[in-house]
Amino acid sequence: MSHTSSIPASAYHKHPLLMSAERLQVMRDYARQDPEAFWLEQAQRIHWHRKPTKAFRGSFDGDVSIKWYEDGLLNASVCCIDRHLTARGDQVALISHREGRENAEKLTYCMLHERVCRLANALTDLGVEKGQRVAICLPMISESVVAMLACARVGAIHVVLFGGFSAEGIADRLHDSGAVLVITASEAKRGSKSVPFKQTMDEALLKAGKDSTVHSVLVVRTSEAAVPMLPGRDYDFHDFVDSFEPDFIPVVMPAEAPLFMLYTSGSPGKPKAVVHTTGGYMAWAAYTMGMVYTQHPGDVLWCTADVAWITGHTSVVYGPLANGGTTMISDSLPNAPHPGRWLDLVDEYKVTMLFTSPTAVRAMMADGDEVAAAHSLESLRLLGVAGEPISSDVWLWYHDTIGRKRCPVADTWWQTETAGIVLGPVPGAQALKPGSASTPLPGLELVIADQKGQIQQNMAEGSLCIARSWPGQARTIWRDHDRFCKTYFSMVPGFYFTGDGARRDEDGYYWITGRMDDVINVAGHRLGTAEVEDALATDHRLVESAAVGVPHPVKGQALVVFVISRKDAVTQLTEAGIKTLVSDTLGRYATPEDVYIVPDLPRTRSGKIVRRLLRKIASGEVDNFGDLSTLTDQDIVRTICNFVQDKK
Ligand code: WTA
Repeated sequence: MSHTSSIPASAYHKHPLLMSAERLQVMRDYARQDPEAFWLEQAQRIHWHRKPTKAFRGSFDGDVSIKWYEDGLLNASVCCIDRHLTARGDQVALISHREGRENAEKLTYCMLHERVCRLANALTDLGVEKGQRVAICLPMISESVVAMLACARVGAIHVVLFGGFSAEGIADRLHDSGAVLVITASEAKRGSKSVPFKQTMDEALLKAGKDSTVHSVLVVRTSEAAVPMLPGRDYDFHDFVDSFEPDFIPVVMPAEAPLFMLYTSGSPGKPKAVVHTTGGYMAWAAYTMGMVYTQHPGDVLWCTADVAWITGHTSVVYGPLANGGTTMISDSLPNAPHPGRWLDLVDEYKVTMLFTSPTAVRAMMADGDEVAAAHSLESLRLLGVAGEPISSDVWLWYHDTIGRKRCPVADTWWQTETAGIVLGPVPGAQALKPGSASTPLPGLELVIADQKGQIQQNMAEGSLCIARSWPGQARTIWRDHDRFCKTYFSMVPGFYFTGDGARRDEDGYYWITGRMDDVINVAGHRLGTAEVEDALATDHRLVESAAVGVPHPVKGQALVVFVISRKDAVTQLTEAGIKTLVSDTLGRYATPEDVYIVPDLPRTRSGKIVRRLLRKIASGEVDNFGDLSTLTDQDIVRTICNFVQDKK
């Protein structure tokens, strides 16, 4: 809450490269007075083949057209690799730690250049052309970074798919994106478990059948285990790629050419692919990551996000590499094979900036203070979180116990659609408030709207919107611009609607209150409750279902589903069967925590399910349901309560 006292910037050791409060204020003023000049200046953070002469053109009204740096020409892989070759070719660009392997793989900028070029040649050899889509479904191994940059080098649009998606989820996304080539792995290790990447991909391609646009599959062999390979379609990644030339002339792209698209859950229903373009995104990734995670010589940034999420794109790959830093990836789990595993790695690789999810912090907190105390952690100078709300007590634990009160904690708020940090503190230049995502970065104008869409001044609470475009803003939803306009620009006309609620306090700090739509956030993964209900609706033994998010001590939120079974069904629905149906359709990450098979659901007279009540009941409340007089059947509340209580 806002009454938690704030920690002044002076509480932390000030590195000469960190921004001062005065300089930050100058930037804010400049951005406000002359946004065009401000954003053209920020674009200088990256390398252009032809520099843009204009920053922004477009509008949030009508057909919503957004263009940044339109006459600029560039290649994103050049921004991330080639431009660093002279000054820091031998500096480590990427540390890739693999559980169970003795030494981490360390790729210098020169080595990364070589790998990316070989793959760019291989992709071209396989017929991949600029503008085509390439799907990447890989665990956290160096090939995932190489693959993204190689796509960028040839001008192909990458679509990174999460390894936790089901075959069906992957098939849908391959179909929607029209991917021509897939880069995947044989399998991945998650703790002691093996995740069968290739097998799932084979099933997905089988489902896609004749409609599939995929002509080639590159498979990184991650273990000795044999996987079936289809001759003429499947290629062993290294056998095939490593023989290509280590040089490839980058394809120069217009700033507005798409760089990648990324699927995310939204409201309502089906996941959608958000499209990001080259120039604006690259400048934005360099700017936002540079403002919060400034790279000093010797810094190692470990952002623990999977590359399949926007944090993986911007904070693992494009941001740190555009800024010439050292980025680290790992396929480890925070507390397996033993508690404190991630802290071992912080010490071992001398991580200076640790950027993770509140879920991971809560998991570390649950391991106990002794685990943290048994580690040195002295390399750390900055801590960060993103992706879900962090409460002030968890923030303070992270700050005190992991950061030893020495390291500022940057709670950053952003979205797949914003592509980079929107709200977040500039470390060393401003006070921190535990539990608040602080203030907008310079150049961003955030507003709070009330229920009628009226913009509120000063201290206020309501829906969080953004008043003006920013370079990294999503341009459209793949093949559905209409949905883009409706989802983001119709709620509060003329403003970008984030879908989140927020409160602004007396100092202008923002406190995110959570999603205002049907999206829930399980361990930092966005999940649409309508997606879950759609998956359940495919089982004809089920009359209706309602999925809700409830508070969870580690995951932040957990998914709970209520289903009504058909009385005349020949075989009965089971809770386990329902969990399997959801995980088979959407992926393991979406498996419900709890399932309740109930006789009916609470409804209003117009037939609408009252989710507010289901959330309360699923959270274990037995009373204080408020006014039930609008329900058609008030007794159902008690009945469902009993179901839930009996199971607990
Ligand atoms: C939530 C992740 C509170 C929010 C980068 C947003 C947060 C959604 C924060 C986007 C934060 C993200 N505090 N909530 N610091 N950061 N969120 O697209 O609801 O996976 O709309 O991007 O996560 O999730 P996405």
